Amino acid sequence: MLYPDLAVNEQGHLTIAGHDAVSLAEEYKTALFVMNVDKFRQNCRVYTDTMWECFGDDALPLYASKALCFTGIYRLVNECGMGTDIVSPGELYTASKAGFPLSKAYFHGNNKTDHDIEAAIDAHIGTFIVDNDEELDKIDEYASHRGIRQAVLLRITPGIDPHTHKAVITGNVDSKFGKAIETGQALAFTEKALKCRSVELKGFHCHIGSQIFDCQPFCDAADIMLGFIAKIKKQYGYETEVLNLGGGFGVRYVESHPHIDIAANIRDVASHIRARCEEFSLRMPKILMEPGRSIVADAVTTLYTVGSVKEITGFKNYVSIDGGMTDNPRYALYQSEYTVLNASRAADDCDYVCTIAGRCCESGDLIQENVRIAKPKRGDIIAVLTTGAYNYSMASNYNRIPRPAILLVGENGYKKLAVRHETFEDMCACDIDLR
Ligand code: LLP
Repeated sequence: MLYPDLAVNEQGHLTIAGHDAVSLAEEYKTALFVMNVDKFRQNCRVYTDTMWECFGDDALPLYASKALCFTGIYRLVNECGMGTDIVSPGELYTASKAGFPLSKAYFHGNNKTDHDIEAAIDAHIGTFIVDNDEELDKIDEYASHRGIRQAVLLRITPGIDPHTHKAVITGNVDSKFGKAIETGQALAFTEKALKCRSVELKGFHCHIGSQIFDCQPFCDAADIMLGFIAKIKKQYGYETEVLNLGGGFGVRYVESHPHIDIAANIRDVASHIRARCEEFSLRMPKILMEPGRSIVADAVTTLYTVGSVKEITGFKNYVSIDGGMTDNPRYALYQSEYTVLNASRAADDCDYVCTIAGRCCESGDLIQENVRIAKPKRGDIIAVLTTGAYNYSMASNYNRIPRPAILLVGENGYKKLAVRHETFEDMCACDIDLR
């Protein structure tokens, strides 16, 4: 098994944290996201414990909630002592509804509207991560109107290519995010922020990309950012308090992906930063990171029910399931790899090569091609592993397919529904009856 929380029971069924996946599917109906909360907490602890050990108590990992967002997850994140990165007023609303302390929320995004900014300041958001001049002007104006000084970080693009999928690179010079150091615009942006009377510049943010497997790109980014911070100090006498290194550590979706020891990588980044701070005679800033995928991806398994097994003689075999690109668009978008199992026959040989197809009216609606699983038949439960990040959060109602439920499970029989299945009524809720 790819992960230690998965096993096979006497019935030959897959178990997740000790729960029979086939029974879960029967009880809660498919498609179903099953999230192992113990694993989620364990993933959070890797960041909190290692960052506190390496950078001191004021370091803070922020859960990047774009990876998976629902009210209950903010409660878990808060219990684990993490902050959160939110990227839209919708995520702000969800965090706030969950009672998440917004002082530990960092508001991202490359186009925050006037309304977003006003609502966030009214809700006492802790920090904005400011992307552009227009936003900075608006924050300054509204904070002044409210008689406060608003804490901000500036988003800077360090100009790094972390060798990941091009759709998930964000730190290069021509990125739509932030201001580039290389062009001199990051410096001008900083000067402007320092002059704003109702903005309190706390420091800088960078994010280089996602699904990164080693610490080198982070060390490179830290080098560039600390060089920039040293320059700012020299030019303006400004001491940076906070450096946010973004998210991006990778996840092992399939056996062929490398193992990644996140704690060891954070330790390496920490010693690198410490050495550079000494070299540049800088005080060690408070370090933030924004992990999303590596917190939640491997804590979730999606369960589906097989509808048909179609063998196109001489070509390929299709196994159709009761979900697809509507709950997991990542294969269609990025040809992302996944591990697929027949949860109903988890002890059998995986000798049936097939393509797992979704139920949408679209040929590209595939979850994975040419996987090897135990031969399924109608009614079998298919498990797709590592579906916690950017699946539910990128889900849609294409073909008016409702979004699946999210079930939390854990050791000692813990089971709790965190998000119910969407209903047809939910999907019509915004439609105006024209009769
Ligand atoms: N911080 C910022 C500013 C980000 O843009 C992102 C992800 C993160 C943190 C979290 O990165 P992570 O630790 O999850 O790699 N939809 C794509 C991923 C897009 C990532 C966008 N930004 C996918 O499904 O692979």
